[in-house]
Amino acid sequence: MTPHCRVNFNTLILLVVLQGAAVVLFCSWYVQLSPCDPAAADRKVHVLLLSSWRSGSSFLGQVFSQHPSVFYLMEPAWHVWTKVEKSGARALRMAVRDLIRSVFRCDFSVMDAYMPERHNVSSLFMWSHSRALCSPPVCPLTPRHHFSNHTQCLRTCDAQGLQRVEEACATYSHVVLKEVRLFELESLYPLLQDPHLDLRIIHLVRDPRAVMRSREESAKSFERDNAVVLEQRNIPAAEMQYQVMQEICRSHVRINERALLKAPPFLQGRYKMVRYEDVARSPLKEIRAIYEFVDLKMTAQLQEWIYALTHGKGKGSIKEAFQITSRNAADVSQAWRTALPHSKVKRIQDLCKGAMSLLGYRTVNSDKEQKRLDIDLLVPQEPFQFSWLPAKSQHASNS
Ligand SMILES: *[C@@H]1O[C@H](CO)[C@@H](O)[C@H](O)[C@H]1NC(C)=O
Ligand SMILES: *[C@@H]1O[C@H](CO)[C@@H](O)[C@H](O)[C@H]1NC(C)=O
Repeated sequence: MTPHCRVNFNTLILLVVLQGAAVVLFCSWYVQLSPCDPAAADRKVHVLLLSSWRSGSSFLGQVFSQHPSVFYLMEPAWHVWTKVEKSGARALRMAVRDLIRSVFRCDFSVMDAYMPERHNVSSLFMWSHSRALCSPPVCPLTPRHHFSNHTQCLRTCDAQGLQRVEEACATYSHVVLKEVRLFELESLYPLLQDPHLDLRIIHLVRDPRAVMRSREESAKSFERDNAVVLEQRNIPAAEMQYQVMQEICRSHVRINERALLKAPPFLQGRYKMVRYEDVARSPLKEIRAIYEFVDLKMTAQLQEWIYALTHGKGKGSIKEAFQITSRNAADVSQAWRTALPHSKVKRIQDLCKGAMSLLGYRTVNSDKEQKRLDIDLLVPQEPFQFSWLPAKSQHASNS
């Protein structure tokens, strides 16, 4: 009786083990076709390139857009900000958040709210700068592993409706959105906790004095956005630029501190701060690190392309995007030092003191120091690289 029972028991164990192995095996085969785990159904990586105006985000966006694994879109929040009249950034941020979530999931029906009834691919803001919208299945112009030319795309790739945009989006492993119209991370918490999203945030910042100079060159084009940033407050024109800069600096501090000092668990490992100046000084090294952070492969072709942009001249090159002179890549970041009067620099330094110290930009204390270009104002990167502080300092910073 007993031995018989034992044999049965052992057989049973064996069967259970075999069955378990079979399930694991079948499941792992099956995952390649359609996943067993519905939460992991879409194994896409979702990247939010979070920046501000005039901080090199268009260039960094291209570094994503031209990658064959990336579906890239510029500024979806532009649609929200331009559709809703006389509103403020605070009121619009949830609509922006929901729009971002839908687009990450390749659901473009959300655009209905912001577009004319019979819209085309060309209704998407800056659509021709997205290589994916110039490639099949949207357009036959640019094979996926080729680099796209937005002038040619603009001429030939428009199509009716967004059906093919959705189809295209679904076929990429990465969806990357560039956004300058978000000023905090808290509204993104539901996206960070969404099991259908694998969100990584790249926070691109730039020296506020250089941003100020660059914004002044085309002050007019910022009027509408300025009003939204400043919640439609009635502010004298001369003060506007300063107050907007202050808001931008505050948002950098808010975002960076939230991600590095007071991060909730779902934010950990999902934030990387990138300084414009570091990318300008060593583009390949920085871009390699950025790709790594979002699990994108650097290809020989991309490396060549980045090298050509960095070392070439002319339209669309990194030198143009970053206004880098051929003698010294660092010169761009320095242009403000000769162009801005010291009184203005002083004012910005006062308004942005916290952000500058947090992000690693040294202040200048005199006109003479400002104009001495051999004095490097960039604090070396190491302390500012992505890192987690021990629990103790997390605690301290909360108090
Ligand atoms: C969409 O494209 C069609 C032709 O393909 C054109 O007639 C129409 O005006 C376009 N609509 C918009 C909103 O651009
Ligand atoms: C893109 O195409 C236009 C028109 O064909 C051409 O003039 C321009 O040089 C091209 N740009 C690049 C970067 O190849």
